Amino acid sequence: MGSFRFLTAGESHGRMLGVTLEGVPAGLALSADRIAVDLARRQRGYGRGARQAIEQDRAEIVSGVRHGKTLGSPILLLIANRDWENWTRVMQVEPLDDDAAAELAALADDGNKRAAPVTRVRPGHADLAGALKYGFNDVRNVLERASARETAARVAAGAVARAFLGELGIDAWSFTAEVGGVAVDPEACTRSRDEADASPLRCPDPAAEERMIARIDEARSNGDTVGGVFEVVAHGLPIGIGSYVHWDRRLDGALAAAVMSINIVKGVEFGLGFEQTRRFGSAVHDVIEGRAEAGRWVHRSNNAGGLTGGMSNGEPLVVRGAVKPISTLARPLPSADLITGEAVEKAHYERSDISVVPAAGVVGEAMVLVTLLDALLVKFGGDSLDETRDNLERYRARIAAPVAPPRIGGAPAATATHGGVTGTDIAGSGGDD
Ligand SMILES: Cc1cc2nc3c(=O)[nH]c(=O)nc-3n(C[C@H](O)[C@H](O)[C@H](O)COP(=O)(O)O)c2cc1C
Repeated sequence: MGSFRFLTAGESHGRMLGVTLEGVPAGLALSADRIAVDLARRQRGYGRGARQAIEQDRAEIVSGVRHGKTLGSPILLLIANRDWENWTRVMQVEPLDDDAAAELAALADDGNKRAAPVTRVRPGHADLAGALKYGFNDVRNVLERASARETAARVAAGAVARAFLGELGIDAWSFTAEVGGVAVDPEACTRSRDEADASPLRCPDPAAEERMIARIDEARSNGDTVGGVFEVVAHGLPIGIGSYVHWDRRLDGALAAAVMSINIVKGVEFGLGFEQTRRFGSAVHDVIEGRAEAGRWVHRSNNAGGLTGGMSNGEPLVVRGAVKPISTLARPLPSADLITGEAVEKAHYERSDISVVPAAGVVGEAMVLVTLLDALLVKFGGDSLDETRDNLERYRARIAAPVAPPRIGGAPAATATHGGVTGTDIAGSGGDD
């Protein structure tokens, strides 16, 4: 949308990841410890690979913060890749001189997989299209950046957004809703948010989680991988964020793009999502019950997932991301060689996770949070947190106040506000498209 943005940099086995955040107002208390909480949450989860034992992600705040508070200037965060120590030559920034090139070639000849150029492209990865597009003959040049290691930087950005939105009473959380076809039962979600967060799959339903773990074990023992679904829920969003007036101001569109941009997400749903298509309208649309305490508008259900007409409607935001099974299999799929163009029995194998639904959920939270921060700043602006908060509070008060009755040319207009269905409501319903 344009008031807040961030850009990440860094390769999976390079020296570090970086993220520059632009547009965060001044006066927000921010610390590396706070960001570390979300970074650690991204690293957990049953089914992850050996890399997570090496990394202990922590973002160093390099700019944009002074004496613990944001300055309104760009914030630069750096996250070291501990694994880089094992890749210094392979990922060297400077050109390889003859000695270094000979050293690498000798390592590759000795069977060191890190040192050898990657040419057997991996199905389900950016390898083939990326190499052809950028003109590479070593797929490492693609996979290093296409790797989801980059999502650590996104999560750091999301943690900053969380800190800001928290000051405005807005928060988002995610949980694992499905793994390998095993779904949570809403009635059996007995765990609190903290309990779920601490569980192996960040799952609120303990019985479903056990069966999900069994599916991951089954995949592992078959040299296979497994996907699932995460759900992000955001609370505290005022009614009317986003807009119906242009396609690119719709909050649902911005959120869908943000969540879909996560490497591995293959579908996004809000509320009932695709299930809506299987029901009659009467079993889908959320009846508006009216204004309740403190002027809050209440819906009888939240099948829309908190979004109607491209705007927040005052109900909790519910976004789900479909996570495909991890593409790199311990028992690699057949593929082809980039150089010869011929089929090969096995694609390249790079150390890999088996299932990442809980981690993808944390990345999903981050993408939702940064999108909400941007949308909030588009509407309320503010160079400082106080200014944004004041603007938001004024708006909240206006939304909670009674709406003045309409007048046509100064005279009160007749309105159908008594629950009655008028003739025009039905006879004139030719549709609005
Ligand atoms: C947190 C996280 C960890 C991931 N770990 C792996 C992994 O270990 N191995 C792998 O093949 N893909 C992994 N992926 C997914 C790939 O990065 C992704 O599938 C690939 O870049 C292709 O992009 P696409 O799935 O959007 O088409 C991970 C994704 C996320 C979000």
